[in-house]
Order: sequence, then structure tokens, then C-alpha cells
Amino acid sequence: MAKICVIGTGYVGLVTGTCFSDIGHQVVCLDIDESRIKQLQKGQMPIYEPGLEQVIEQNVRAGRLAFSTNYRESLSGADFAFIAVGTPSSDDGDADMQYVKKAAISIAEHLDHPIIIVNKSTVPVGTGDWVAEIIQDLNSQDVPEFSVVSNPEFLREGSAVSDFMNPDRVVLGSTDPEAAQKVADLYETLRAPIMITDLRTAEMIKYASNAFLAARISFINEMATICESLGADVRQVAKGMGMDKRIGPSFLEAGLGWGGSCFPKDVKALAHMADTRGAHPQLLQAVMDINHNQRISAVKKLEQALGSLRGRLIGVLGLSFKPNTDDIRDAPSLDIIRMLLDGGAEVQAFDPQAMAASKAEIPQIILCDNPYAVAEGVDALLLATEWNEFKSLDFQRIKNNMRGDVILDGRNIWDEQDLHEMGFTYMGIGVPEPK
Ligand code: UDX
Repeated sequence: MAKICVIGTGYVGLVTGTCFSDIGHQVVCLDIDESRIKQLQKGQMPIYEPGLEQVIEQNVRAGRLAFSTNYRESLSGADFAFIAVGTPSSDDGDADMQYVKKAAISIAEHLDHPIIIVNKSTVPVGTGDWVAEIIQDLNSQDVPEFSVVSNPEFLREGSAVSDFMNPDRVVLGSTDPEAAQKVADLYETLRAPIMITDLRTAEMIKYASNAFLAARISFINEMATICESLGADVRQVAKGMGMDKRIGPSFLEAGLGWGGSCFPKDVKALAHMADTRGAHPQLLQAVMDINHNQRISAVKKLEQALGSLRGRLIGVLGLSFKPNTDDIRDAPSLDIIRMLLDGGAEVQAFDPQAMAASKAEIPQIILCDNPYAVAEGVDALLLATEWNEFKSLDFQRIKNNMRGDVILDGRNIWDEQDLHEMGFTYMGIGVPEPK
């Protein structure tokens, strides 16, 4: 059993700290945000993540998990300090490193015993070395022994707890192989394949993995556009491609494209890193352009089907960037809603978890209590996020409630033939027009 301090209680920090406590380690999750820590101490969740609340509760009760704003107490006697703070995109596309820097400085200020510093935040390649320099410089007189290990996270929102418990691999990078091995030992009970590299390579594995997954989605979305022009069905194309073992079936679902807290910022940051070093990121640029175009093309489809957006009422199902999360960061839905509003339409919407946050971002959205209320009086209905509860709706009821008959299934979850036979004008993404 190790003593771990996790700095940052966002998705990554909270899931990492909680899961480490669940596999037997002694964990303090630290944040400088006092209200967030107070909330956690009272057992309230600052984020929606399925399953997390129960695991937190169990481990707090078992005395293995605590929350604090105090660096001195949290780091006292800790064998490991995990940095899991945010690295949002700055204006030029680079990752904003101010929170990582603050965490490194705070560790340096309170360091009074040997420790292994593990970086979980997604940081530009080279950050591990930079963190080590910050700590070294601030403690130049008498630095307690420390090592820096990069340990990128591959957690998906909505399934983060089970992703932590069943990793495809654990990647560790360090100039100190002994320290990397000690971090590997923390994960021992999970029996995952462990890969140990140098610091920069581990940092790069994270960016390359996210960029590749984003590229797969942009690839299939480009195929969807081509399918539409040729009358082919992208769902079958993806299935046929995915049966090739070299390709595999995951991340080939055409739709409104990717959003969230990771793909957009990581692809942008990788392209920026490449650019600033003279390595022209041609593919990454296309991956981002295609993703942006998916949103524009959804608006164009609605405009075409309705003749004009001006004065139209459009219903949107789903606001979070994907199902099973309340996260709306770079959600395709919100971009599309902004464009619809700019075009003169009104928008009413429902989402199981992301309504308040969406309203705060775009106050003009009219919020509804359920999907049937969203359909009430609308000229068109757009499915933006494929929450399970939208998969089997009573479409007769939807039809009766709607003023128009246009449906844009932005995630290809409904049966186009059924809807066509019920009298809807159905549009999907890369799906042939039903006859
Ligand atoms: C991602 C990575 O999967 C994870 O490893 C990393 O640590 C963080 O970023 P997450 O952002 O939670 O996780 O979502 P993910 O499930 O990967 O989906 C990303 C986006 O791609 C979503 O907007 C989703 O709707 C979209 N997507 C996914 C598609 O459009 N098509 C697909 O086939 C798969």
C-alpha cells in the first residue's frame, strides 16, 4: 500500500485518486478550489460520472480516501504526488500550462522528503523535464530526492471508472527507471500491460493516441460525405471496414463529429507543437477541418430541408458532447445551436444532464422537460447526442407534437425506413435517402 497525493479534482484527478484508493492505496485528493473540496467532503459530486459516487463513498468510509486544500498535510509522508490539473487550450492552440506550473511550485515549496512526482495531465512534450527544473530551481539549496514520471491517462468520460480498472495499457515515461517501476507497482493488481519509455515518448504516446482516434472519426465522416454524394451507406461501409482485423470496428461511427475536453485541445496542441518546430501537420489540420465542417454541414442540411432558418423553431435532443456525461466542452450541439440562432431560428432542447450548463453558455436556448416537449411545435428535430433514452422514442407522439416533419439524425441511431414510412423527412449522416 502506497501513500498518494493527487493534485486536481477534475475528471482525471478525481477518478484516478478514487480508483487508487479502491485498489488499496491511501489517497488524499487535493484542490485549491475550496468550494469543490467542501462539496466532496460532504459527499456531493462536482461532476456527473456514472459509478464514481459510490466508489468515493465506499473508500471515504473505509478511511482510504480524503479531500483537502492543504498542500502541507496532503504531501506529508506521501510516496507519490500525481499532478492531474487542467491544461486548457490557450488562444494560439498551445496548451495553457499555468495550473501545472502552480502545482509544481506548490510541491517544491512543501517538499521535505523524497517523492515521486507523476504527471497525469496532458502536457506538451518536454513538460516532464520542465517540471523537474522548476522543482530543482526552487529548492536549489537542499533538494530532497525526487523523480518525475509521466503517466498519461486514457480515461473516457462516462466510463472513466471502468477504464481505470481495466486499462488496455499503462504507459510510464521517466529518466529514472526505478521510479517508473515504483509507479508501475501501484497498478499491479490491475494486471495491465505496462510500457516504460523515456519521458518525452510517453507524453507523445498520449497525443498520438488521441490524434489517431480523432483522425479515425474524421476519416469516417469524410467517407459519410462521399457516401451521401454517391448513394452508399456509411454505416455498412464502416461495418465492412471494421471486420478487417488491421482496421478494427471502434471509432468508426459517422455523425456530428468529436468534441469534449480532450480531442479538440489535444489535436490542436499537437498541431501547434509540430508547427512551432517546422514539422507541417498536414493530416492533423485536415482532421480538425473535417470535424468543424460536420457541424456546418448539419446546419446546411436543416436550412435546405426547411427552405430557410429564419423564423423556424428547431428542437435539439442531446447537448452534452457525448452520452453519459454532463460535459459540454466543445460539444457539437452547442456550435450548431449557435449557428441556427445566427440564422434566425429559435431552438428548444432537452438533455438528461447538461441543461443548466448549456443554458448558462447560450441563454437563448429554450429548455424542455423531455423529448416529447422538445418536439412540440417544431419545424425540425435534430438528434445531437445519442443518449440511450433517445433510442426508442414513441415517434407517433413526436409526429403529432411537431409542426413540421424534418428529422436530422446526427448520430445515425434511428431506423430511416420506419421514420420515412411514418411520414417524416429523414436525414442521417452518410445514410441514403429512404425510399
Ligand atoms: C477521449 C479518449 O477516448 C480518452 O482515451 C482520453 O483520455 C480523453 O479523450 P472522451 O473525450 O471521454 O475520451 O470521449 P470518447 O468516448 O473518446 O469520444 C470522443 C468524441 O468522439 C465524442 O464527441 C464522441 O461523440 C465522438 N465519437 C466517438 C464519434 O463521433 N464517433 C465514434 O465512432 C467515436
